[in-house]
Amino acid sequence: MAVSGLFFVFYVLAHMYGNLKILAGHQAFDTYAHHLRTLGEPMLPYSGFLWVFRLVLIVALLAHLYSAFNLWSRAGHARGHRYLVKDAMHTSISSRTMRWGGVALLLFIVFHLLQFTFRSFYVGTAPVSSPAAMVVAAFQTWWLTLIYVIAMIALGLHLHHGTWSAFQTLGFTNSAKSRAIAKGAGAVIAGLVVLGFLIPPLAIQFGIIK
Ligand code: HEM
Repeated sequence: MAVSGLFFVFYVLAHMYGNLKILAGHQAFDTYAHHLRTLGEPMLPYSGFLWVFRLVLIVALLAHLYSAFNLWSRAGHARGHRYLVKDAMHTSISSRTMRWGGVALLLFIVFHLLQFTFRSFYVGTAPVSSPAAMVVAAFQTWWLTLIYVIAMIALGLHLHHGTWSAFQTLGFTNSAKSRAIAKGAGAVIAGLVVLGFLIPPLAIQFGIIK
């Protein structure tokens, strides 16, 4: 769970950085989308690197889901009734929302892939040619922006607790200092990802990027 989770942290940071290219204009974003497909050529075929990366993402997702359901069912078997003391304890909102927040994120990812990767539906104007035009047309629609705002808050909460939890699993929280670092890392990564992902949709929604 921790290893696949940290791989996703790396992935979302890279994806967020790529999305921010839209601030430099349509051409910068389209060039970046094109480069993702020509990376490794001529050693690899067109889109070869992207497909290798996609396979790694799928394996990481399966590992993450398998560990999550395993943990979930072990926690369920360990006690037949609700844990009254723990319920009453002060736990953070991010730790309490890991399970259902994770399920919500999975649904969001399916929606997101159907929209931008498989292009099964278009929001905004009719099918558009360039990746940047597709993104701009989509986020000019208020309800789509709202869905992404909610999803990014869910992602932030998940990353906040998840990063801390991964550090703990990997044994980096044995001293007060390392615990403080792990907590800080969770907060910084979550804040960065929410902010970085939300800048393009909000800038488009408010007409700063057209
Ligand atoms: C505001 C937030 C986001 C925007 C604007 C956005 C935008 C995009 C776009 C335009 C693509 C298509 C890229 C291309 O085909 O060149 C894409 C693909 C993808 N996005 Fe996002 N994304 C966002 C958030 C996320 C998040 C939070 C995740 C995961 C947790 C995610 C996971 C993916 C995946 C797995 C792909 C498929 C990559 C591939 O083609 O293999 N995205 N996204």
